[in-house]
Amino acid sequence: MQKTIKVLNVVGARPNFMKVAPLHAALQAHGAFQSMIVHTGQHYDEKMSDIFFRQLELPQPDVYLGIGGGSHAEQTGKIMMAFEKIVLEGKPDLVVVVGDVNSTLACSIVSAKCHIPLAHVEAGLRSRDREMPEEINRLVTDSVADYLLVTEQSGVDNLRAEGVAESKIYFVGNVMIDSLVRFREKAAKTSILQELSLSPKSFVLMTMHRPSNVDTKSGLQNLLQIIEHITSLKRVVFPIHPRTRKQFATFGLDSQLHSLSNLTLLDPLGYLEFLNLMENASLLVTDSGGVQEETTYLQVPCLTLRENTERPVTIELGTNELLSMDAHQVNQRVSEILASTTVRGTIPPLWDGHASERIADIFASKLFQNQE
Ligand code: UD1
Ligand code: UDP
Repeated sequence: MQKTIKVLNVVGARPNFMKVAPLHAALQAHGAFQSMIVHTGQHYDEKMSDIFFRQLELPQPDVYLGIGGGSHAEQTGKIMMAFEKIVLEGKPDLVVVVGDVNSTLACSIVSAKCHIPLAHVEAGLRSRDREMPEEINRLVTDSVADYLLVTEQSGVDNLRAEGVAESKIYFVGNVMIDSLVRFREKAAKTSILQELSLSPKSFVLMTMHRPSNVDTKSGLQNLLQIIEHITSLKRVVFPIHPRTRKQFATFGLDSQLHSLSNLTLLDPLGYLEFLNLMENASLLVTDSGGVQEETTYLQVPCLTLRENTERPVTIELGTNELLSMDAHQVNQRVSEILASTTVRGTIPPLWDGHASERIADIFASKLFQNQE
């Protein structure tokens, strides 16, 4: 009889939950795996963490490290110390990390040093902007991973250009889109539109949390000008990330934000409610990584307020556009998009709702091979 493969799936921050949920489900359904969840606790609020376990049908974590916030070194170091104990005690056959957050980085380094095979889901993405903490996390994680599971062709090209062995690279598609496909119908049944008195395509949905946009007073002042302009055209719905909420308060700009009319400011939303709003929005204005992909799949226009993106396929094939955080330029483009009736875009290859199953098959064939 074949031994079960013990897999530790790491989650830490909001964008990790929708990536690990379908993967955990696929590993469980496969039969070859004992799939476990380790939550670092990088994100810990009910609305940044617990709600996703319920809505995405993720079981409670097998291990909760409770790390919380801190400087990059503090957060990464604390996760490494706690995760090393888990790995040494639990002796997994494989550690799976997703995305590009500090939890991804910390658990990757630990796994590599403990000689545990490491899989990185969403490997190969590059913004080529090393001022982004996520870019450092992506580079380090990919350099120590054994299985590099890639969402788009640019990821394969980047890894090849960096000299990664072909045998480690797998173009599997997008696990975040697996969650979207799985939960789209359920999301459509939520009552969020009615609760906010919104009709379809009557509003702009916004999310912002990149340090490069929200950690300076001038960045937030720019953002206020952009929101004010959009609210003159359409209602703006803005579920506000805790980092951004904190920064508005720190720079004394929260009363200005709250005084804007035609703006609905909300706490971070659940996955299902947010998905429903995305699908019904006229436009997304964001700096999120995942939202660029989700809007591409949903074929909803997306304006990403950043200098670069690690997800170029969302521009080449999808509905995404990049603009720097320059209020004049952004406001002009928002007006044009809202006045237009055409939406371009096609769905990228392998974004079909089955990436997690492909990953489970790869793990099964490779890890059983290694045990023989
Ligand atoms: C993190 C990720 C970023 C990702 C984002 C997704 C890193 C370096 N950054 O950014 O890549 O795009 O998550 O949302 O890993 N806070 C709360 N409650 C929470 C979580 C955070 O109040 O549940 C506040 C705390 O003040 C905390 C701050 O937000 O210090 C920043 O949290 P942190 O996880 O360090 O970075 P994010 O900005 O959330
Ligand atoms: N999201 C959510 N509620 C919100 C805002 C976003 O559920 O209020 C979801 C979004 O649909 C996507 C994920 O959170 O699935 C993206 O996470 P985030 O923008 O925090 O991180 P990033 O992708 O930028 O790393």
